[in-house]
Amino acid sequence: MFRINDNYTKLPASYLFSEVARRVNAYQEAHPEVEIIRMGIGDVTRPLCKAVIDALHKAVDDEADSATFHGYGPEQGYDFLTGKIAEYDYQRRGIDISPDEIFISDGAKSDTGNIGDILAVTNRIAVTDPVYPVYIDTNVMGGRGGELLPDGRWSNIEYLPCTSENGFVPALPKEIPDVIYLCYPNNPTGTTLTRDELKKWVDYCRTYGSLLLFDAAYEAYIREDDVPHSIYEIEGAKEVAIEFRSYSKTAGFTGIRLGYTVVPKALLGRDSEGDEVALNPLWRRRQTTKFNGASYLTQRGAEALYTEEGQSQVKETIDYYLENARILRDGLAAVGYEVVGGVNSPYIWIKTPGTMTSWEFFDYLLDRYHIVGTPGSGFGPSGEGYFRLTAFNTRENTLRAIERLAGEGKNI
Ligand code: MLT
Repeated sequence: MFRINDNYTKLPASYLFSEVARRVNAYQEAHPEVEIIRMGIGDVTRPLCKAVIDALHKAVDDEADSATFHGYGPEQGYDFLTGKIAEYDYQRRGIDISPDEIFISDGAKSDTGNIGDILAVTNRIAVTDPVYPVYIDTNVMGGRGGELLPDGRWSNIEYLPCTSENGFVPALPKEIPDVIYLCYPNNPTGTTLTRDELKKWVDYCRTYGSLLLFDAAYEAYIREDDVPHSIYEIEGAKEVAIEFRSYSKTAGFTGIRLGYTVVPKALLGRDSEGDEVALNPLWRRRQTTKFNGASYLTQRGAEALYTEEGQSQVKETIDYYLENARILRDGLAAVGYEVVGGVNSPYIWIKTPGTMTSWEFFDYLLDRYHIVGTPGSGFGPSGEGYFRLTAFNTRENTLRAIERLAGEGKNI
């Protein structure tokens, strides 16, 4: 009889956001009259901007004519898009990244999950805690998690707590990990690291030979000057870091899917003989084998973002979400909640009142105010006692949510 991958049976039965959706659906079924405001999963609500829509329409027409029809594309992405990314996202910021270091994909979730394919199963992983659950779950699936301990930690993973006690700034690892995941602006806390703070991580990785997996999915929300948009703004990062980017939160592509990963040619790992091996060709080999490329249509849509109209239309949408974030942040603070995030990020991270656990607060908000958020404990042990709201909603619903919460303050 065939055997399954036992690692899957070690995981909690469902993925965090599936569990939240299950509970919300059950509540809605039991209370059909209630109008729920959904601020749980970070899914955008604004339509794609006009520049993208026009480009998508044109790309559809291309597919209708044998002279311009596109079948399989290059697995790592079309030159018309990788060239624009290299220029706009990197070279214009003074970063020397070339198109053949960029790999287009169907999103950062897939890439942050799949990157483990090119890394040894023996690597020791470190994550900030709370953390985007994909980093942990995919390492458990790949056999790097060890055992789930009663305190919710995995025995082979090093957790770097980020709580109000340390201002949400993780300390450098105590044991030297082989691979470190950082996500800034951070999901779920919405906090950022300054240039000097990020430099410590790059220097650490250079000193100890660790690989830095830097998730910059929320880069477009950065508004403060001292917050780097790319890890490659830090000197020496190209020799230690892979960067993940997403068009989901940047341009509303959560439904049509697109992202990219930068694997610099200067980034070297070691094989089991101790010899140096470049990661760029390994990732290319992985992608060309397991991935047939993102669609021509979607890539044409993304290309339109790198135009004057595209850039300004996208900025307008992000400004809209950031204003929602400000309303949530200020509104919650005004009624006495401790909040961080929401300045360079669409996420607001709230301390739950009193001794309420994250899931108790989830039930409380859902039942009393009909507001859905994500329990902090779902993002890791240090997320217990916290709760995440997203700014991805209409202005109307954002204001309504604050009115509902402010009506009674936090006297619960
Ligand atoms: C989130 O809510 O954390 C994100 O939407 C999840 C994701 O990007 O996959």
